[in-house]
Amino acid sequence: MALFTCLATLLACVSARLAIEGRVERQPIFRRLRGGSEADAQGLRGGAEADAPPPPRVMFVCRANSCRSQMAHGLFNKLTDGSSGASCGFRASELNPHAVAVMAEIGIDISEHTSNAIAEYDPSAFDAIICVCGCAAEVPGEWKVGHFEDWSLDDPPELDPGDRSVYRRVRDELKERIEALAKRLHVAGCGLGLGPLRGGQAAAAGGVRDEVKEYYGKVLQKSADLQTNACCTAVELPQEVKAAIGKVHPEVVSKYFGCGLCVPEALSGLSVLDLGCGSGRDCYVLAQLVGESGSVVGVDMTDEQLSTARQHVAWHADAFGYARPNTDFKQGYIEDLKGIGLGDETFDVVVSNCVVNLSPDKAAVLREAFRVLKAGGEMYFSDVYADRRVPPHLRDDPLLYGECLGGALYWNDFLALAKAAGFADPRLVEDAPITVANPALEEKLRGIRFYSATYRLFKLPGRLEADCEDYGQAVVYKGTLPGRAAAFDLDSHHHIEAGKVFPVCGNTYHMLASTRFRQHFEYVGAHPHEAGKSAHFGIFDGCGKSLPFASASAAGAGGQCC
Ligand SMILES: C[S@@+](CC[C@H](N)C(=O)[O-])C[C@H]1O[C@@H](n2cnc3c(N)ncnc32)[C@H](O)[C@@H]1O
Repeated sequence: MALFTCLATLLACVSARLAIEGRVERQPIFRRLRGGSEADAQGLRGGAEADAPPPPRVMFVCRANSCRSQMAHGLFNKLTDGSSGASCGFRASELNPHAVAVMAEIGIDISEHTSNAIAEYDPSAFDAIICVCGCAAEVPGEWKVGHFEDWSLDDPPELDPGDRSVYRRVRDELKERIEALAKRLHVAGCGLGLGPLRGGQAAAAGGVRDEVKEYYGKVLQKSADLQTNACCTAVELPQEVKAAIGKVHPEVVSKYFGCGLCVPEALSGLSVLDLGCGSGRDCYVLAQLVGESGSVVGVDMTDEQLSTARQHVAWHADAFGYARPNTDFKQGYIEDLKGIGLGDETFDVVVSNCVVNLSPDKAAVLREAFRVLKAGGEMYFSDVYADRRVPPHLRDDPLLYGECLGGALYWNDFLALAKAAGFADPRLVEDAPITVANPALEEKLRGIRFYSATYRLFKLPGRLEADCEDYGQAVVYKGTLPGRAAAFDLDSHHHIEAGKVFPVCGNTYHMLASTRFRQHFEYVGAHPHEAGKSAHFGIFDGCGKSLPFASASAAGAGGQCC
């Protein structure tokens, strides 16, 4: 068995060598390679190693060669069990002590590394060049002729110089990326052997996320590359949204993969967070609707998507006539918004378009959305749902998962997760059936129906009840919401016409009276939380629940006493 493993490893490394040499024309001459001997750098190793082809040489580049590139360098050396990794910066600086410490925690000693400038090296000595700071534009052209990748990782010292947890998060992300890189470079059988850094579940989550990144970063280039119509928006767009899309850069629009409309009403001046923003179409639409005094933050994990979004920040500010951009794009996981520095109660509105289904930990996404929302704020998001639980063999199908079908939640499980996260009364805004439109996949999915649906989840801690209770309240819509003069649709059950007394349950009352909609309504009846003033009339009629007692309908018909 051990012999078989060794042979498999050897074969994998041979194929890695061939694959790499097919991409990069290696020059025999190099000037200098730090972190390993000259002989190592040229693959001139002695003894038994002389027969085994060396692993690919990979150079990791970042701005100052103090933290991210150094950690990547150490991880890659560990992975290749030698000195095939190297690192440098646009300028030399000092090795970051926190980076050294968090690497030591996982048994990798980088304390002997030195910080060096890119100008000291010869690019031809390397098989692959990885920029880890998302600054490909600054990498000299001669470094980008062969296998080149641009990873955009957060810079821990910039986020919080003394917070080790940030360094650990970036280290763990680097580990996942380097293992994926090793697969791409065909270095199979040479795993890091560190085990999951954050527990088994996290490792599984990392695998799902890598596949999703691959799909949205490398496989899909534009909306038309999708193989089903799951990630397509079938709803009628309001005029103001159509006009706003018209002002978004064509490259951004061409990379839109949303399945619904996640643009709620009354956004002026608000701070909005878009989870899984992709190349940023919705962010740039929202940036117009919040206006120059508002702001939009987009979060995504995929380099290629973010790179498109970021390229056009200044262009959009200019097109909207803003003095400075009101959009910001952050790289990170939507299950861990704290990890990218998003604090509690920061946003008025959280949106997301066709993303939660792709998350390996949907409960964490909802918990994080709840945490970052201000009280009275709402999560307003579109996603794909199934009419039943998707069986594991379909959930594990990478194409179905990437196309937003395999990971779709059964709608009733979603409601339970949303309530557990603190969103006590999820409201369905609109929905449309998904037809899939791919005969082979339709056959695989036979028997399951999928829907795209938009929900709004208000964060009203201590205000919303599990069910709709009748306190004898009503509201009158003033017709003052922009673009909604005649009526306001809170959700698919509440079409509230202007000027008409509209009876509401206690929850709906709060969704209007305790949120940004407050000023657009007049209120009738006591506030349910004004102690002593509230009369309760039982469950609210027509809210999906009714008096459960079978005898209720017979009441008054003259029953017998017990
Ligand atoms: C179907 S696309 C939708 C993109 C965008 N909302 C749009 O409408 O064009 C899904 C996006 O979610 C991102 N994504 C998926 N899972 C994620 C996660 N766990 N954390 C961060 N981003 C994620 C992907 O990188 C991809 O850009």
